[in-house]
Order: sequence, then structure tokens, then C-alpha cells
Amino acid sequence: MNISRRTFCAGMGGLAGLSLVPPALAQTHRLTARKATVQLAPEGYPATDVWSYDGTIPGPMIRVPQGARVQQTLVNELDVPTSIHWHGIRIDNAMDGVAGLTQPPVAPSEEYTYDFAVPDAGTYWYHAHMNSMEQVGRGLSGPLIIDEATPPDVDRDEVLMLNDWLLDPETGAFSEPFSHPMMMSHGGRTGNLIGVNGDFAYAMTSRTGERLRLRLINAANARIFVLRLQGMEGWTVALDGMPLDTPDPIGEEIILAPAQRVDLIVDVTATADQPAGVLMSLNSDGWEALVEMTVSGSTDRRPDAPEPLPANTNTALPDLSQAQQFDLVMEGGAMAGMESAVYQGETLDFRALIDRGQFWALSGQAGMSETPFASLTQGDVARVTLTNRTAFPHAMHLHGMHFREVRDDGSLGPLRDTILSFPEQPLEIAFVADNPGKWLFHCHMLAHAASGMNTWIEVI
Ligand code: C2O
Ligand code: CU
Repeated sequence: MNISRRTFCAGMGGLAGLSLVPPALAQTHRLTARKATVQLAPEGYPATDVWSYDGTIPGPMIRVPQGARVQQTLVNELDVPTSIHWHGIRIDNAMDGVAGLTQPPVAPSEEYTYDFAVPDAGTYWYHAHMNSMEQVGRGLSGPLIIDEATPPDVDRDEVLMLNDWLLDPETGAFSEPFSHPMMMSHGGRTGNLIGVNGDFAYAMTSRTGERLRLRLINAANARIFVLRLQGMEGWTVALDGMPLDTPDPIGEEIILAPAQRVDLIVDVTATADQPAGVLMSLNSDGWEALVEMTVSGSTDRRPDAPEPLPANTNTALPDLSQAQQFDLVMEGGAMAGMESAVYQGETLDFRALIDRGQFWALSGQAGMSETPFASLTQGDVARVTLTNRTAFPHAMHLHGMHFREVRDDGSLGPLRDTILSFPEQPLEIAFVADNPGKWLFHCHMLAHAASGMNTWIEVI
């Protein structure tokens, strides 16, 4: 099933990348979910029939100033109901876009207007939130960028939306059913073709000494990107949209789990004849280019490290002394299994769960429960331990509120909305329940969410 990216490349030597950055939109816009045919695979391979926003992969970039109002009317021209979630926005619950929890599904040929304020500057994204495994997998996602009133001093600001697609090289079509039991029970649906901004060979140009802001968004269904910079060095300045207190020098590797974002400020150190770009590690295959950067000319490098990005409001550290404690235990999947779990009110053994397409459970519950995993009152502080008893990593995402990791020494990590949990490596997170509503808490390996790893928290 796994064809390497090189297989796709075979015979395509010297193919130059075409880089098309989607144009920014005005604040009020109609976003049409519709079928389109897009060239995802390299030239010479067939095009792919996708589900898109406005006919492009990724969807159009939505870019507004911090504090602005976003008004987007979703026009559903697909044959199936859909909805849009604004990932990472600390949003009014009614606008969160979770079909079946915060709004009814938007039926084919119907419209639905999202209208909300964006309190935080940073790098976010939007995607379908109904049968996400398939709808996001077929292309329904796009970048959502909220600009600071005073942007950092950089020469250029680049959005890099990472994705992968599992395509049949013969036909260009998505291969294998989206609800493939093998994918659901293992690491999720990972692709055989990796692209940036919808382009198999995304390329950039720059000059030696330039300072760039790179906004990386992992929009893939399940792939964890392991990245390295070549010919650039710099700092991480934000995670999941939220600025770090101090820019953090970039280490050897950048790990980006599904749905996570990282904002980097980098200086180009490569000179004209040196290789540069963003590299990715593909299993044991070593490193290969994800984004190739051609360097020509030069400018004076800035002498100083960048200033931190301006802090967002409402980011004070929670007081853990009064926190309520919850335990989230992840179980199931291949190679670990589980005895039983509750599904739709019934306790079922693993075999019976599998018959219903449920491979995973969170604290003994497969899929959504009648009552929330945690019931909180506005202002409560919650601590949640994450215990991974499965054989796979999971990218756990909380809607509506960012959380912080509680480290072993009791200190608190940076604000995030998605955290990567590895098998047998306990984690703990804490957050202030300051946003009322019903908030989903799920694995962003979308095949896992579809087969059990999906729960919710209520804040009253
Ligand atoms: Cu990107 Cu339920 O989330
Ligand atoms: Cu998972």
C-alpha cells in the first residue's frame, strides 16, 4: 500500500515546481465546498478528483487582522452534508463547526454562515468537521491566518500547508477506501505523495541573509512530519498559533503532528550555490526535500534575534492548586487491543467493537458519549492526565481552549491546542475552562477519531 514518494518521482527527473500561493480574501466571503479536479501528482500523472473549497487545494487563505470579525458563508455543493471547524480559534461555541454537537450538518445545496471574532493572532486553519476522515482527506481544508497589529520584522511571511495524499499513480484517484480497517486500527491514513500548498514540488526563492517567517501547518490525516532546516537557522516563535514568551532556537528536528502548527523566524545562511530548504525524514529512507529553496543574491543579515511575537490576551498561567483532576486513558488499536469498552450505551468486547468499526476507546468509552468526559464550570482549572496504552502515537486536540503541558517538575509548557502522545509516555495537560460550551476532545489522526477516539468536555 505504501508507495514511496520516490516511486511517484520515478521518471520525473528535473521537474521544476510551480508555486501558487492562494490569494488572501476579503473578510466577507462565500466558501463553496465542491468537487474539483486538481493536479496533485507530478506532471505526467493523472489529475485527482478532490473535494475542495472554491476549487483549490488547499482552500483559499483566509487572512484577517487580530480582533476582526470573520464572516464566511459555507455553500455546500457536495452530495453529502458538511460543516467547517476553525481549528485553534478560541471561538464562540455556536461557531465551532462540529456537525452534530455545535450545529446541525449543512445539507447538500444548503448554506450556513459562520460569523465570529478572532481574539488571537497566529497561524490557524479550517477544515470540514463531518466525517472528517474522508472529507478532510479529500481536500476540505485551508489556512486561516490572523495578523498581529504590529507584525515582526521579517522580509517575507510564508504559509506552508503540509499534506499527504494516498493516490493511485495509475489513475490519480484516492486509493483505498477512507474507512479502511487496517488504517483505522494502525497509524491512520498516511499518504504516498507529500505536498506543500497543494504542490508536490513546492519551491521558494530567497537571498542570503533574508529573514523569513515560516508558518507550517500540518493538514495531513495522520502523518507526523519530522523536519529539518537546510541553509537556514532561526527560532520557533509560536506553537499552535500562540506566541512563545521567548523565541526558542530551533533544534535538530521539528516534529509536527497532525493539526499542529509552528511559526518559525529564520535567517537564510546558504549562499547562492548551496542547498537550502525544508527537509523531511521519511522512515528509514533518510532526508529528502519537502520545500526546495533557491538562493540568489544577498542582503545584510540582521544582527539580533527576533523579538517575541506580541502576546495574545488571556494567556495567564492557570493556578493548579485548585485544579480538578481527570484521567484520559487511550486504549485499543492493533498490537495492544482492549478488553471492552462502552459504545452507544452498551458494553462490548473488542471483537464486537471491531464489528461496529470501533477500534479505540478513551477512558473506556468508544466514540461520543451521552454525558461529557468532563463537566466544568466557567473559570475552573482542569488537569487531565493522558495515558497511552496503545501501540501508536496520538495527536490529541481540544476545541475552544488552549492548554499547557504540566511538566514533570510541575512547570507549565507553552499554550497548545494539539499535543502528541507517545505509547507509554504519560503526559499531563492543564487549562482554564474559560470558554462556555460543548467542546470536542479527540485524536487528530482522523481515522482514529472516526473509530473511537472522540469525546467531549462541557463548560457551563
Ligand atoms: Cu482540527 Cu476537531 O479538529
Ligand atoms: Cu490517534
